[in-house]
Amino acid sequence: TGVAGTGNERSFIAIKPDGVQRGLIAEVISRFEKKGYKLVAMKMIWATEEMAANHYDDLKGRPFFPALVKYFASGPIVAMVWEGPDVIKTGRKILGATNPQAADVGTLRGDFCLTTGRNIIHGSDGPESAAHEIGMWFTEKECSAYSRSIDSWIV
Ligand code: PPS
Repeated sequence: TGVAGTGNERSFIAIKPDGVQRGLIAEVISRFEKKGYKLVAMKMIWATEEMAANHYDDLKGRPFFPALVKYFASGPIVAMVWEGPDVIKTGRKILGATNPQAADVGTLRGDFCLTTGRNIIHGSDGPESAAHEIGMWFTEKECSAYSRSIDSWIV
C-alpha cells in the first residue's frame, strides 16, 4: 500500500441549510467519496440556535456571529464525519475558500455559491475543532469503524 500515517484522521463536514435546500447533498458526498475518503457517520438534523452557537462557540463576539447562528439553524443540515489521510486539510481544499468569491473553480464553493453568508458547507479547520465538532454532533458509537474493499487501492 501507499503512504501510512494519517489514515484515520477524521473531519466534521456539514452541508448547511442552503446546501440542503439547493439539492447539493449528493454533490458534496460524491466529491468526498470519489476522492477516496470514507463516510463514517452521517445524520440530517435541524439544529437549534443554541446548538449552532455551541458549534461556532470560538466565533462568539464576532460581528457576524448572530447572523451565522441564525443561518446555520434556519433549516436541516447534513452532518457527517469523513475519515482518511489528511482529511481535515484536504477536505478544506475540496470545500474551497470561506469566501466563495475567492474560492477556486473546481471547489464546492467555487462552483456552487457566491457569498460567505451562504457558503453551503462547513468543514473543521484543525484537529482540535474536528474533535470538538465530532464530539458535539455524534457519539463514538455513531461513528462506524469499518473497512471498504477498495481501501487497499487508495491507501
Ligand atoms: S475567522 O475570522 O478567520 O475566524 O473567520 P473565518 O474562518 O473566515 O470564518 C469562520 C466562520 O464564520 C463564517 N463567516 C461568516 N458568516 C456570515 N457572514 C459573514 N460575514 C461571515 N464571515 C465568516 C464562515 O463561513 C465560517 O464558517 P464555516 O461554517 O466554518 O464556513
